[in-house]
Amino acid sequence: MTLLILAITSLLTSWQFAKEQNDHQIPVAEDKHWREVTVPHDWAIYGPFDRANDLQNVTVWQNGETFPSIKTGRTGGLPYMGSAWYKTILPLQGELEGAYFLLFDGAMSEAEVFVNGQKVCFWPYGYNAFHCDITSALHVGDNEIAVRLQNREQSSRWYPGAGLFRNVHFIHKPHVYVPIWGTHITTPYVTEELAAVNIKTRVENALNKHIELRTSLIHKATGEVVDSLVSHYDVKHNLPLEQNITIHNPALWSPETPNLYVARTCVIADNVYQETVETTFGVRSVQIVPNVGFLLNGKVRKIQGVCLHHDLGPLGSAVSRDALRRQLLMLKEMGCDAIRTSHNMPAPEQIELCDELGLMVMCEPFDEWDWAKCKNGYHRFFNEWAERDMVNMLHHFRNNPSIVMWSIGNEVPTQCAPEGYKIAKMLQDICLREDGTRPCTAGMDQVTCVLENGFASVLQIVGLNYKAYRYEESYQRTPQHLILGSETASTVSSRGVYLLPAIPDDTDHITNMNHPSGNSQTNQCSGYDLQYCPWSNVPDEDFRNMDDYPWTIGQFVWTGFDYLGEPSPWDTDAWPSHSSYFGIIDLAGIPKDRYYLYRSMWRKDVHTVHLLPHWNWNTGDTLPVMAYTDAAEGELFVNGKSMGKVRKLTREESEAAIQAGDPLGLQRRYRLIWDNIPYEAGEIKVVTPVGEAICKTAGAPHHIEMYVEDIPATDNKPLHFVRVRVCDANGNLCPQASHLIRFSTKGEGHFRAAANGDAANLDLFHMPQHHAFAGELTAIVEGSCTLTATAKGLKKAIITIQ
Ligand code: GAL
Repeated sequence: MTLLILAITSLLTSWQFAKEQNDHQIPVAEDKHWREVTVPHDWAIYGPFDRANDLQNVTVWQNGETFPSIKTGRTGGLPYMGSAWYKTILPLQGELEGAYFLLFDGAMSEAEVFVNGQKVCFWPYGYNAFHCDITSALHVGDNEIAVRLQNREQSSRWYPGAGLFRNVHFIHKPHVYVPIWGTHITTPYVTEELAAVNIKTRVENALNKHIELRTSLIHKATGEVVDSLVSHYDVKHNLPLEQNITIHNPALWSPETPNLYVARTCVIADNVYQETVETTFGVRSVQIVPNVGFLLNGKVRKIQGVCLHHDLGPLGSAVSRDALRRQLLMLKEMGCDAIRTSHNMPAPEQIELCDELGLMVMCEPFDEWDWAKCKNGYHRFFNEWAERDMVNMLHHFRNNPSIVMWSIGNEVPTQCAPEGYKIAKMLQDICLREDGTRPCTAGMDQVTCVLENGFASVLQIVGLNYKAYRYEESYQRTPQHLILGSETASTVSSRGVYLLPAIPDDTDHITNMNHPSGNSQTNQCSGYDLQYCPWSNVPDEDFRNMDDYPWTIGQFVWTGFDYLGEPSPWDTDAWPSHSSYFGIIDLAGIPKDRYYLYRSMWRKDVHTVHLLPHWNWNTGDTLPVMAYTDAAEGELFVNGKSMGKVRKLTREESEAAIQAGDPLGLQRRYRLIWDNIPYEAGEIKVVTPVGEAICKTAGAPHHIEMYVEDIPATDNKPLHFVRVRVCDANGNLCPQASHLIRFSTKGEGHFRAAANGDAANLDLFHMPQHHAFAGELTAIVEGSCTLTATAKGLKKAIITIQ
């Protein structure tokens, strides 16, 4: 008799969690350390922050260091190290039939999975998705699933997170089934009139039954079935079963038109229905043409991308679709059209959102190959696991239209190994074998090595990290005749902090207390967007490369958002800094000034006029004022008095200014700059042909203002992001306010976390009290409630969140 088994996928969200007490032993059931948690869960984000958590005496070679020094805050100053266990009960009733799997979207790290005490799988790389067949370990009744995770010291260059930080799926399949990631859809021919869709479906069919596949293609937004096909197969092997369907007048996928289709396939074996598998895909073409560029749907475009780390700031690494959506929408609003998943496999939610919202993706698995960057990094696993890790990533994401290129690694030290190119070729060949529809690149920083040893030449795309001044040479010396800025800028800034003098400066100077600027303010970087690390540069350099060289195919800016860990330049015993300064948007999700610089360059459909710095200074101060705008010129007024008209320099004028020794010669090509404006309390205003911007001197802090960001919250446990501002009596932001704001909620929802974007702030994210930084912070609330914010000396604010 053949039983009809419905394929079932469910999320396992309720777990118990305990830190390991005895080596490799699951804590006993009655142990008081067990507590209920909801997965996705990050055990380390609750702190406490401590300098000792990640104190290291190391040489960071890739930052150009040649001798060891004390490093603090590199992994966020959070207690992510150690071993811990998760367990849950899976009740199964009736007869067990078919096949059962656990699918982990990621588990940080060195995951060992046990079912009823039997070890069913091990997966070392915390970022990768993996699945285990648990059929033989299950029985009718209650089954205990247990997962042991271990994070070693010095295993990461940033905050990796800890625990079951991504979703865990329980999957029940019938006797004949499509394995996890068993569908592969490509669109080998794409024009506006016609698209050829090729669908390969692997079917586990141990008894060699006759297979019928009924596939419909559905336009996802409208639900319209655009075509369908029924195919029959009698095969003795587990070969993928192929179907070809055409779509007339396909709705193409692009960042501007993120159209999606679903392939719905019913599997029927010997006339018995087995299961239905749905796979989302898009119709689009990707090409790389030497000396022409990167083409999406046949049109050349320069990638306007940013690099992103996986953490979600105050929420840690526990994945949240709402928080990811917020990040991507803010980036899109800036004109960003691509992200790089630096430097590891992304959460599937992030890629699904990129498909839906329209962002291209460079998907990148590794920060290390066989040569170490960190004492306990991925190099320990590379030889044995790299291929398996690549295959999982490729099978997991190869149907997602947003992914337009694979990167096989970031600044891997192996790039300088004499035979490093062989490993590059091996990994690239895996991409070609398992996917073959997207080009492959790598982020290379050792330009001399890779040009000489062949490493750069074997890649399909030459990706350079920084080294803006070596683009031309690299273009000449590589056969691909195209250069991608796989990582650019690494400009450092703190939101709302402006340090003088405002001239381009590398951070070796900034962190040196004897610097002539006499900066007394440590642990911050300047909001004038002129500070960069010794290996990096300011945004204007990258704009110049993109504008002046037709063979550049775009860039991925380091980074879209600030992230936990890597607090360069304040990383050399500069505690309490513990999060990055690189973000265009800070850790609280509040844009820094730089956001508007990129927006002014990247958004062609709307105007940008943004003025900096804030206008609360001391009488007698003289300051540079800048406007980030797409306008070519503007006039500045201080309290109504004109400070003169300024226009952007042409390329030739800018190069001449640089030659003549003007330190801002390049910046004047991309920003409107008034050099020495005497401060006078009141207001500054810039008037341009495309619009105006005003900045007013704020009076004494008077009240708190709150508003909920206009971002749809759609999760089961929806997150709402509330912007909190300290204002004067007239509603102007007080740009130096740092009040401690206390939160309370009423109703079913609750306070989840807060952040203020100050990389040196040690307030715990999950506690309902947090200091403002430069007058602002963000509070995150889960569910509907009334949120009240109070602070000493300020009128409180109350809002209702639905
Ligand atoms: C790069 C590296 C990134 C990050 C960045 C900081 O060299 O690829 O992961 O460390 O520097 O500037």
